[in-house]
Amino acid sequence: MKKKVRNKGNKKTRVKSVIKAGPATTRRRAGIIGLGSYLPKKILTNRHLEKMVDTSDEWITTRTGIKQRRIALKSQATSDMAVRASKSALRDAGIKAADLDLIIVATITPDMQFPSTACFVQKALNAENAVCFDIGAACAGFVYAIVIAEQFIITGKYKKVLVIGSEKLSSVTDWTDRNTCVLFGDGAGACVMAPVRSGGILSSYIGSNGKNSDLLFLPGGGSRNPASHKTVDSKLHCIKMQGNELFKMAVRIMVYAADKSLKKLGLTCKDIDMFIPHQANIRILFAVAKKMGLSRKNLYLNIAKYGNMSSASTAIALCEAVKSKHIKKGDLVVLDAFGAGLTWGAVVIKW
Ligand code: ACO
Repeated sequence: MKKKVRNKGNKKTRVKSVIKAGPATTRRRAGIIGLGSYLPKKILTNRHLEKMVDTSDEWITTRTGIKQRRIALKSQATSDMAVRASKSALRDAGIKAADLDLIIVATITPDMQFPSTACFVQKALNAENAVCFDIGAACAGFVYAIVIAEQFIITGKYKKVLVIGSEKLSSVTDWTDRNTCVLFGDGAGACVMAPVRSGGILSSYIGSNGKNSDLLFLPGGGSRNPASHKTVDSKLHCIKMQGNELFKMAVRIMVYAADKSLKKLGLTCKDIDMFIPHQANIRILFAVAKKMGLSRKNLYLNIAKYGNMSSASTAIALCEAVKSKHIKKGDLVVLDAFGAGLTWGAVVIKW
């Protein structure tokens, strides 16, 4: 029988009562037991971009908060970065690749149309016992993948799951379009998930709205517009975006997603120790934090260093926040992301 969640008392007792109550569906709980990230060495600064398009360091910094981004080597594919992040996450978790039951890669820049990037990761890791697939939920991909992994773990189907967000956005960026090329970067983050006795994922919420799919998309190379000279000449293999429309939606929906996932537990934004948002634009993140009543010390930011890395952003931010001790044992952490689709989601984790 479900235990009642009490939401009275101070922050500490409120969160404690939620932990005791357990997740809504089962007594088994999934948690993150290891984290890793990988960032390519090459740094592309705003000054470099000033020489490529009609822009300025001042415009990019004030409008986006981005100072630089990482760019993968030509020879480096999304799976290569994913493997580097995964090896680090496996080491951190203290398990072997052969222990993995499932590998999920969230990406919009797969190595190839098929097979899945997750299968390439499996091959490189020798994770011979894992089931592998990719998911496409753009910037919300890592949050979606965590929620999917959680379902397999709480039902008892799988015990060790590797969840990866990896992107080579430089490969789909139009480097002559100042509206988009200043925003994106490359990188990978990974986590190992498993059943846990204490802490773990307390609640989650994901959502989608295909009606606004025209705000952010990559039209070329799929069955709608198969690759041809024409699609290449018209730059259909690059990101198309209506930034200012997305901006407004991102703020509203990210606040909504965080609120919804906390409400399920009888908690509010005041209970958050560390908020890890998808790093799209500093102004989006400050607006979200303001609406949620969060102070800067509860907000993790790394956008200045890396820009927007789609599904990898939240993964890398979480990894860095833990490794740099911005997240400590016992903290209440909320991951929150929004992206193309539209897709969005939030996960509440007791660390
Ligand atoms: N350098 C200089 N000027 C620029 C640049 C640039 N790099 N890019 C655009 N401009 C110009 C525009 O041409 C426009 O000029 P105009 O007024 O003469 O027409 C002017 O700046 C203002 O353009 P806006 O698009 O209105 O600028 P805005 O303040 O909205 O900022 C931005 C644009 C940064 C793209 C912002 O809307 C944004 O970050 N949106 C979210 C997009 C995003 O992150 N998408 C990824 C996934 S979805 C998500 O993660 C939330």
